[in-house]
Amino acid sequence: MYVCRVLMTRREDSYMFKIITLLGSPRRNGNSEQLAAAFAKGASASGHAVQTIRVHTLKIGGCIDCRRCWMNGSHCFLHDDMTGIYGALDAADVFVFAVPLYFYSWPSQIKPVWDRLLPYFSPDAKADIRGKRAVLLAVAGDESPSCFDGLRKSFELACWYCKLEIAGEIFANGVYAVGDISSGGWLSEAEALGRSL
Ligand SMILES: Cc1cc2nc3c(=O)[nH]c(=O)nc-3n(C[C@H](O)[C@H](O)[C@H](O)COP(=O)(O)O)c2cc1C
Repeated sequence: MYVCRVLMTRREDSYMFKIITLLGSPRRNGNSEQLAAAFAKGASASGHAVQTIRVHTLKIGGCIDCRRCWMNGSHCFLHDDMTGIYGALDAADVFVFAVPLYFYSWPSQIKPVWDRLLPYFSPDAKADIRGKRAVLLAVAGDESPSCFDGLRKSFELACWYCKLEIAGEIFANGVYAVGDISSGGWLSEAEALGRSL
């Protein structure tokens, strides 16, 4: 598991958020990762703690709808790298999804993470993510911003269902080859969003 932890000291005048960033791209230092790094730079400058997880390097199976989590009020019964993500989500105040658009939707690295949130919605759940904040940082090669319509809707509905408060969304279109993200002002926008939390 790739984990980069930047711990900042608590500022006297504000609350220090624990932020978990899930990198959804298999490309190292690709566009979504650069966007996430800019966001983390801004968030760190504001005194927040950012933990970054490269989901591509993990083994996370899909939900098998056994509902044992709902019967026992426990975390998922599948034992894989989602266990570490549950721990990070439980501890975090803010979830950041940094993803490339794949076929107008989530990359396959991230979709199982959403599906495996099911245990939190058991009446006897041991942990609660309701009220936490969520941020979407998305990139796509398509020139039209409408390419994000499906992903945007999925994110917004999922946050509504999970009772996550959306703290920001960036949809960077026209970003295809590695490095394209550096033009168009997206990185400054992401840094400003991180700083504004
Ligand atoms: C499997 C696959 C599917 C993709 N699907 C789309 C798509 O539906 N729409 C689009 O605009 N770009 C699509 N792309 C392009 C990526 O979103 C784009 O190259 C992005 O910048 C990659 O981000 P990354 O560098 O963080 O991996 C796809 C790329 C791959 C590899």
